[in-house]
Amino acid sequence: MQNRGNFTKFIEELKQKCDIVSTISRFISLQRKGKTYWACCPFHHEKTPSFAINEVEQYYHCYGCGESGDVIKFIEKYENLTFMEAVKYLADMAGLKVPEFEGNAQDLKQLKLKSDCLNATALAMNFYKNNLNLPVADKARAYLAKRELDKNIVDYFNIGFSPDWTSLIDYLQKNNVSREVMKTAGLIDVSESGKVYDSFATRLIFPILNSYGDCIGFTARTLEADAKFAKYKNSTQSIIFDKSKTIYNIHSLKQLRKEQNIEYIIICEGTIDVIAMYKAGFKNTVACMGTAITTFHARELKKYADKIILCLDGDEAGQNATYKAIDVLDEQGLEVKVVKLKENLDPDEFLKKYGKESLIQSLNNAEDAIEYKLSSLSNKFNLNDSFQKNKYITNALDIISNLNSNSQKEIYLKYLSKKVNISIDVLRRDLFGSTYKTSTQAIKEELAQEDKFVVRQDGHLKALKFIIASIVHKQPYAMPTINQNLKFKNSNYQNLYDFVVNSNNQNKTYTISSLFDVFEVDENPDIKEIIDYDFSVYPDKEKYFEECYNKITLINLKQKQEELTQKFKTETDLDKRREIANELYKVTKELKTKTEKKQ
Ligand code: UTP
Ligand code: MN
Repeated sequence: MQNRGNFTKFIEELKQKCDIVSTISRFISLQRKGKTYWACCPFHHEKTPSFAINEVEQYYHCYGCGESGDVIKFIEKYENLTFMEAVKYLADMAGLKVPEFEGNAQDLKQLKLKSDCLNATALAMNFYKNNLNLPVADKARAYLAKRELDKNIVDYFNIGFSPDWTSLIDYLQKNNVSREVMKTAGLIDVSESGKVYDSFATRLIFPILNSYGDCIGFTARTLEADAKFAKYKNSTQSIIFDKSKTIYNIHSLKQLRKEQNIEYIIICEGTIDVIAMYKAGFKNTVACMGTAITTFHARELKKYADKIILCLDGDEAGQNATYKAIDVLDEQGLEVKVVKLKENLDPDEFLKKYGKESLIQSLNNAEDAIEYKLSSLSNKFNLNDSFQKNKYITNALDIISNLNSNSQKEIYLKYLSKKVNISIDVLRRDLFGSTYKTSTQAIKEELAQEDKFVVRQDGHLKALKFIIASIVHKQPYAMPTINQNLKFKNSNYQNLYDFVVNSNNQNKTYTISSLFDVFEVDENPDIKEIIDYDFSVYPDKEKYFEECYNKITLINLKQKQEELTQKFKTETDLDKRREIANELYKVTKELKTKTEKKQ
């Protein structure tokens, strides 16, 4: 406990030293307007600033994407770090030493292992890179030349070579890397006979860097023409490498964003495709590590641009992946287009054969994602067979019915109509026919029902939120309520209120920033909403506060009245009945005066 107390104190000190404005301004440029600093949000893509930093309260909030937090949270998000890593990062910056405490020994052990692994992969990357200049790498250099990868590009992508099965291990050992760390980082494997060997032995090595330039793993290509083993071997899943979250070349994308606005990102399948694209000037190209595109990938990419051009391989696997990726990307609000290069070439082959200008043309002619879906779906059916054609139309209409707006539906109905050679009126009737109407009617009714409920609840909840937000954000008109021992049914509001009252009683002024230490803000939408509360929509806050306060008091009194009436009805003990009656009388009287005052 003693230790935990020390740690909490340390966090307070750290946050004092690392002022949120000066810390964040190291990463993004800020503009001051009054008390608030503004920037384009680093957590989602935007052109006009909606990311605000409150210097007094030491927290940030983005009105665009809803991200908010204190300085530690900012570092966690911006640099993709865990809480403890972010603390360490800031402590280093401020020249403080993070105190150790029992409670997070496990955390610290993990942290140490992770940093040891990153150290080991960094060493391995350098080892592989240096090999490329040695005579043993003749074959590797010849291969690179054949693929037209010159020295500049090889250096930029840190390409390397593993000469044999054990040199890496000797090298790492000399640099005091333990076997345990080598294994955890996925650098070594153990054969059935118990021999330890370099996981990427004799392969051409492509290091994978995360967004801030650390090498987290490798993808390694065999140099054999007809290899009996997999052509590419990737790092195994580990505490530093998770392929479902990894984007090859994200590091360049981050760099590029610093230099210019990125209009769109190109996603292709292969590592060498990314490199060939980069070399041809398409620096906005990335790849996923031989996996499907995940929601995590989509969210990560959304930070850099609003548009994606999918340029996956033309084979069946690549096209299936494209079909699936469209939905995942679309769900995150990304605009998706698809390029299918002619002759089923991959970008690397295409660039070699047809050159950069042709590729630009292909990108310009990228197909709209929905049209792509409709047309690639049609390949699965024989449209000359009326039964199959019917099936296709049903499936296609299903895709169209999921679109958001009627005008969008109309656009693709037109497309479908041409494709299947059936008049658009007929298709439209199929789509908006009788069953469609009744189901929308049903939804409408349901919504109306919900509306009624929401309005009733909402007035109450809205008032409650305004009250608690005013108290938490220390609005002067709300301060008197601190002495009134308010009670909230919602335990989150109650905890927030208690926290404010306690700070006040101890004569401590708290900042919004400190709420992030006390509450699990991210896991708690109630609290997050209060922290992010937007007062600007209320012109007369004081008056509105009074209205809300009266409203809540009335609702509470009415509830109490009902409860007491119920109690009175069921109570048999005479003394108790008298007691309840007295109370009921008081409540009713108060209710009466309050309602009269209101009118
Ligand atoms: P391809 O076989 O199309 O390879 O696999 P490629 O990218 O064109 O490679 P090069 O040009 O011959 O060097 C497409 C992608 O599938 C994954 C890789 O990500 C590869 O880029 N893959 C393929 C593997 O992970 N392992 C393999 O053995 C093969
Ligand atoms: Mn290829």
